[in-house]
Amino acid sequence: MPIIKLDAIDSTNTYLKQLSSCELLEDYTVVVANTQTMGRGQMGTVWESETAKNLMFSVFKDVSFLAVEKQFYISMVTAIAIYTALKKLMLPKVQIKWPNDILSDNKKICGVLIENIVTQSGLRDSILGIGVNVNQTNFKGLPKASSIVNKTGRIYHLDEVLHHILIELKECFTWLESGQYDKILEEYENALFKKNKPSTFLDAEGFMFGGFILGVTDFGNLKVLLEDEIVKEFDLKELTLLY
Ligand code: BTN
Repeated sequence: MPIIKLDAIDSTNTYLKQLSSCELLEDYTVVVANTQTMGRGQMGTVWESETAKNLMFSVFKDVSFLAVEKQFYISMVTAIAIYTALKKLMLPKVQIKWPNDILSDNKKICGVLIENIVTQSGLRDSILGIGVNVNQTNFKGLPKASSIVNKTGRIYHLDEVLHHILIELKECFTWLESGQYDKILEEYENALFKKNKPSTFLDAEGFMFGGFILGVTDFGNLKVLLEDEIVKEFDLKELTLLY
């Protein structure tokens, strides 16, 4: 499992994606950086992180065994792996916020950016981009963010956290490789933040509405029981879960 350590890079995802386009990479090749000058988040957002305090890394995985329609399962196993690792590191109340933020005690500890490479013959590779707030203590202007040190009172070596996540990633990807879709969905939904709890959402137009999260579909849409008893499925562009 090669680990490429960089001091500074624009984005570990961008770097690993480029590397994978010119070299045959081993599964679980990791690129980790002390700092990113153009860290990328979901939906075109920017991921900012204090230099050397937090983990910023990307993992290469060949996913050519998986049908394109099943690509949300990559997201699910990645989230379950981080969720399991953070629980083992004794973080309190760890949950997965759809689609793949990891929360501890209602605060975001980790963000995930999955980039799948699809060719004419189907899914080929996946770049799993993971940002974990480890030893940063100050989150001014980010009231929903926190870190491992803030939640456990313990300073972790970044390599230790990386090691724990990689072990769980390998384990969870074996479920995917052996087609254990029901198990993956069940584990994911069991960890889902606000599942079966009254929740408030914003739609794409900025209107607020209420409902109960029932789970997710195979395609990664969120299933919500609306106040008029209708179940609707939403994709990421259609709603924001307020918390
Ligand atoms: C999000 O919550 O919006 C996802 C954030 C993902 C950040 C990580 S840090 C390592 C990797 N490289 C990137 O540019 N992004 C991901």
